[in-house]
Amino acid sequence: MVSVTDQSVSRTSLWGGRFAGGPAEALARLSVSVQFDWRLAPYDLAGSRAHARVLAHAGLLDAEELGRMLAALDDLEAACASGSFRPTVDDEDVHTALERGLLERLGTLGGKLRAGRSRNDQVATDLRLYLRDHARGVAARLVELADALVSQAAQHVETPAPGMTHVQHAQPVTFGHWLLAHVQPLLRDLDRLRDWDKRTAISPLGAGALAGSSLPLDPVVVAKELGFTTSAANSMDAVADRDFVAEFLFITAMAGVHLSRLGEEVVLWTSQEFGWVELDDAFATGSSIMPQKKNADIAELARGKSGRLVGGLVAVLTMLKGLPLTYDRDMQEDKEPVFDAVDTLELLLPALAGMISTMTVRADRLAAAAPVGFTLATEVADWLVRQNVPFREAHEVTGKLVSLCESRGCGFDDLSDDDLRGVSPLLTPEVRQVLTVESALASRTTPGSTGPGPVADQLASVQDKLEGWREWTAQRVVPR
Ligand code: ARG
Repeated sequence: MVSVTDQSVSRTSLWGGRFAGGPAEALARLSVSVQFDWRLAPYDLAGSRAHARVLAHAGLLDAEELGRMLAALDDLEAACASGSFRPTVDDEDVHTALERGLLERLGTLGGKLRAGRSRNDQVATDLRLYLRDHARGVAARLVELADALVSQAAQHVETPAPGMTHVQHAQPVTFGHWLLAHVQPLLRDLDRLRDWDKRTAISPLGAGALAGSSLPLDPVVVAKELGFTTSAANSMDAVADRDFVAEFLFITAMAGVHLSRLGEEVVLWTSQEFGWVELDDAFATGSSIMPQKKNADIAELARGKSGRLVGGLVAVLTMLKGLPLTYDRDMQEDKEPVFDAVDTLELLLPALAGMISTMTVRADRLAAAAPVGFTLATEVADWLVRQNVPFREAHEVTGKLVSLCESRGCGFDDLSDDDLRGVSPLLTPEVRQVLTVESALASRTTPGSTGPGPVADQLASVQDKLEGWREWTAQRVVPR
């Protein structure tokens, strides 16, 4: 949040004409948004440059006026960037503040820029530009986390681990497969961002307050200049629509939930009970009282911060649900949740990427845990099925085998040929061929399954996809 200077200059009111006096202090304090919307300034200025050109094209500014206008906008942009121009307590929002800056530089000529434009189409445009730009930044950070998971996965294509359902040991999997199972959701998040971007690349400028403009301004030209594909089809929808905000927040909430699930697993993996993963000192925290402690705070913060990401989505959907067309002031509440979502992910993702890429995986402990809890039971049942036994019966026989082992407190490996025959004549000694973790994994050869073969294929395909994201994530949306 930007701090506003209180050295107050004469108030740049945008609606002085029909009002007898200034706003009440309480109203001014409630309605001010410049402390959080100031970050839209570069996008507002880009919109103003495009609008100035289209005004000139329509004959509403002459060449000399356009030149001065563009020079003043450039100067204002530099002043904003250097911090020599700051919003004051009297600037209601970013649009008001920048209009003041323009008037200070141009005098009456500055007042010409507002023709054919309203804060309603302006704010919708600014927010689309900001989000399209930052979606690429968030996507770049998602790719970095995916890269970190992929490089760990590449080390563990063959490392056995006890795959779980209900947090109970279920069937052996490779740890590489497990890590890649956290990459696939991130690839979907990336896809969602790019899909969202296509729908968001529509310019509201030209809608004015709600009805379009009687001035001969070409909204398509402005749209193209700002990197949009075209302008809005309906001026009322253009200023009323915040689908792009809610949808962005769904994507960031979903990503937050993915990071939370990854975080939860890292918390488990690093616990004494699991001991599968050790975090690098630089990416773990200690305790002020217990000298031995090493805590996975980054993973916990990933889990914790999903709450605010989900909350932002709920806040905006709830804010929008009863709003009559077109613009309503409620919509000013659309900004803080998306700004917070962007800030949260830009903070969290690099920390997670660092934590994942530097962690040490204890392959020995994973391998030792892989067969624990009779995770090979399904192999026995499947082996019986291959001997033509109906699965129902195979399941029953294998269940009895597990029960025998449990009563003796032993594993499958400890049973004699007689023990096997005693459970069922169907269990010949050949069944032992499938009773190793290695054979269970090696037998998983179908696409998408956990055997080292398909995991290596998956790894290559994921690396390929991530490579394909680099160009999009490096794009900058706002033109100079
Ligand atoms: N600060 C306002 C917002 O963020 C800008 C639009 C104000 N428009 C209006 N007619 N009051 O929504």
